[in-house]
Amino acid sequence: MTRRDVFFRLPAGWAGLAAAVRAEGSDESYWQMVARLFPLDSGLLYLNAANVCPASRPVMDRYLEYLRDFHANPSFQNREKYVAIEERVRSKFAALLSATPDEIAITRNTSEGSNLVVHGIDLKAGDEVIITDHNHPSNSDSWKVRAQRDGIVIKSLPVPVPGTSAADLLGKLEAMIGPRTRVVAITHLTSTVGLRFPAKEVGEMAKRRSLWYHLDGAQSFGAMDIDLRAIGCDSFSSSMHKWPMGPLEAGVLYVKASRHKELWPAIVTAGWSDKLVGARKFEVFGQRDNPRLASIEAALDFLTMVGPKRIEARVAQLTGALKQAFAADSRLILKTNMQPEMSGGVVKVDWKNGKRKEAYDTLYSKHRLALALTGSGDAAGLRFSPHIYNTMDDVNRAVAAVKTVLG
Ligand SMILES: Cc1ncc(COP(=O)(O)O)c(C=O)c1O
Repeated sequence: MTRRDVFFRLPAGWAGLAAAVRAEGSDESYWQMVARLFPLDSGLLYLNAANVCPASRPVMDRYLEYLRDFHANPSFQNREKYVAIEERVRSKFAALLSATPDEIAITRNTSEGSNLVVHGIDLKAGDEVIITDHNHPSNSDSWKVRAQRDGIVIKSLPVPVPGTSAADLLGKLEAMIGPRTRVVAITHLTSTVGLRFPAKEVGEMAKRRSLWYHLDGAQSFGAMDIDLRAIGCDSFSSSMHKWPMGPLEAGVLYVKASRHKELWPAIVTAGWSDKLVGARKFEVFGQRDNPRLASIEAALDFLTMVGPKRIEARVAQLTGALKQAFAADSRLILKTNMQPEMSGGVVKVDWKNGKRKEAYDTLYSKHRLALALTGSGDAAGLRFSPHIYNTMDDVNRAVAAVKTVLG
């Protein structure tokens, strides 16, 4: 029986699934059960969570159910239910992130959330923003566009590959702060090489230095257990279609309550008012895909049922096995830190012979191993990002495929 056969035979309701997913345990049989909830093609070795994750069947089912209902009856009356669903989604995001519902805006992705911050903070010509060389363009090029418009100054930290230590990274960031520095905008876990920044320590420093601290959580939310209260950032942005295994074009922006007055809404349209409470005033974008809200809720329920701590430990187990195997092969260069506290779900490895593109193509065409490729620069290499729908067998097969391709 293939994985796909099992998938379509599962009972349709949540109740049976919920008990199985919530159950204690983290042995391989538990994860095999979880894997069967995903619609991945049998035989496909999908190790690209850092880019896009498949949604689980309950999440897709919920979306389709609400999409059909919406288009069967798009009346205002039938859409009233989304007011309550939206507030439940806000509360569930808040619970998973250790925030309050008023601090949550429901966005379309990380890029949008980060840009709301980049373009919404009051900054004057000469004010400085600290970023890093490994930030995603949504948290670096966006700042550079703002710099062109308003004359602010961007200072970028060159990120060591692999990472040095939490203390070194913190020290280097702090050394860049001057009297005109207003913002520090970093990445919780980089998509380039999977380096985890010392988010909490940066939060303490940002507080001490009275900076706005923006954290890009595209590679952390859904893969790691996150406590924004403990981290102490002022804003945090993430996407649902990555590690949270939710729908496409859905995301979250957290803005700390004490900062709401300092952030201008970038988009204002019907439904916006000064009276909107908290971060709700940052998410009024015109007509939204309401049914998607229901699938966000399903994805957040799913994350909660498996449990962020159990997910983080499983991701560490899968990436740990990959890193061990790659570090032991002299034909490869591992660019991701081994230490769990400096890494997460992303593993980057390069081919010493430079034939990374050939390997990437062959791994997909001959071994059905789906990865991401960085063609050049200090992050050049192949990116492996396994998630909870991957089994240890997937990881072992991926390693065997790499060995075969290396020859
Ligand atoms: C660190 C990081 N930030 C932001 C993004 C952008 O995410 P999205 O395309 O969902 O806005 C990505 C996407 O890969 C990312 O890895």
